[in-house]
Amino acid sequence: MKKIYTNRFEIPGKVCIVTGGGGLIGMKHTEAIVEGGGIAVLLDIVPQGMERVKNSVTEEYGEDTKIECFVTDITSREALEKVRDELLEKYGHIDVLINNAANNPKVEGGSKNLGAMRFHEFPVNIWDQDIAVGLTGAMLCAQVFGEVMEKQKSGVILNISSDYGLIAPDQRIYRKEGVPEDQQTIKPVSYSVVKHGLIGLTKYLAVYWADKGIRVNTLCPASLENGQDPEFQSKISQLIPLGRMSRPDEYVCTILYMISDAATYMTGSTVVLDGGRTIW
Ligand SMILES: NC(=O)c1ccc[n+]([C@@H]2O[C@H](COP(=O)([O-])OP(=O)(O)OC[C@H]3O[C@@H](n4cnc5c(N)ncnc54)[C@H](O)[C@@H]3O)[C@@H](O)[C@H]2O)c1
Repeated sequence: MKKIYTNRFEIPGKVCIVTGGGGLIGMKHTEAIVEGGGIAVLLDIVPQGMERVKNSVTEEYGEDTKIECFVTDITSREALEKVRDELLEKYGHIDVLINNAANNPKVEGGSKNLGAMRFHEFPVNIWDQDIAVGLTGAMLCAQVFGEVMEKQKSGVILNISSDYGLIAPDQRIYRKEGVPEDQQTIKPVSYSVVKHGLIGLTKYLAVYWADKGIRVNTLCPASLENGQDPEFQSKISQLIPLGRMSRPDEYVCTILYMISDAATYMTGSTVVLDGGRTIW
């Protein structure tokens, strides 16, 4: 019989959890899952974002689209266990976990949460919150949903890092002309630490679960175009060999590849989609 390799990208009936599913890239994870034939399970603290994703993807892919939304704080193990129990009751299996949620301060977009913040003034409470969502939340999800995968002897975990999981932010691109030095915004240290930490979590779990049928990998997206001002877009584009920011739809095929049987020999890996930024 003729082999059709593209069939390996299909994930029919697979229950696929996306943390932070109501955000910008959450939409793309959801599209990847739905296009592969899977059931997308979105976890987010903001219900409106998940509704937006659900409505938009359902409109695009049709009424048969399977998307579930759980208003869930991933820093609470108890809340995650509740989701796990409901999913097991309904489907009997959990197949994919995409650890995507993060406090993602969009410094370039005049993010409300930061203001001017030099490293030595960076508040410990923000550090704690960022680590709680980006690292502890990912670890808790891996514990709670990974245990199910371990029992099933199959599963895939995809940790969403960043180019800033590999390189330091070039703070010059966030500078604004005419703004005093002590009021310039910078990408916070917690973001670098969370994104580097996720690559460590990936490698640890890839080895830990290698003989249990669970693959664990990292995807590093970078420089998503999302209405930033032209000055910022121009500055960042100069750091990228492809000379431009990325479009969110440029991630979907890679996500589906990494969570499907198209990638059965990939574990512990870091896949970088950055237009070449980290090679300079
Ligand atoms: N946008 C980019 O340019 C970019 C670049 C590189 C990497 N990334 C990474 O991709 C991932 C998604 O980024 P995005 O741009 O879609 O961010 P986003 O801010 O649009 O989405 C993140 C989502 O996580 C949710 N969230 C926050 N705390 C939570 C909690 N405690 N429990 C559950 N959900 C919670 C938020 O409500 C939000 O919907 C992040 O890990 C980010 O670091 C983004």
